[in-house]
Amino acid sequence: MSNAETVSTTAVDPSVAAASAQFLSPVALGLQALVVNGKQAHWHVRGANFIGVHEFLDVLVEHAGDWADTAAERIVALGLPIDARVATIASKVAPTAVPAGFTRSDEIVLAVIADIDAVLADLEAAIEGLDEVDLTSQDVAIEIKRGLEKDRWFLFAHVSA
Ligand SMILES: [Fe+2]
Repeated sequence: MSNAETVSTTAVDPSVAAASAQFLSPVALGLQALVVNGKQAHWHVRGANFIGVHEFLDVLVEHAGDWADTAAERIVALGLPIDARVATIASKVAPTAVPAGFTRSDEIVLAVIADIDAVLADLEAAIEGLDEVDLTSQDVAIEIKRGLEKDRWFLFAHVSA
């Protein structure tokens, strides 16, 4: 017979859980910020390619939300919490490059790409840092990075020659 007290809380060593949380928390927070700031851009883009940029920003927002969920739930699955409250995100994530008001499409695309690049840097650090710690958590970072780099390309194609 088994009950909850005889079953290990998580499948992994506590140090693995801690490292996964250390590297995946900034990713989850950065992606949550991208959800909010991506919507800001979606609402305020103006000018050339309006409909394409406006619509694609919503796709990016949806992806960012899904990826934040993937990163956060990996941490929670390993038994640790994540503080992703709005005030915590605001204090830990670098300020967005997205302006507050109506903005030309080329300018707003470059701003969103700058925000994406900040998340990509955290993903790169996660992939490096988790390489000898937990390949499953590293796989989460790799999967997100692959998708985010694709969305970056879709955005960049709006402004490149
Ligand atoms: Fe909308």
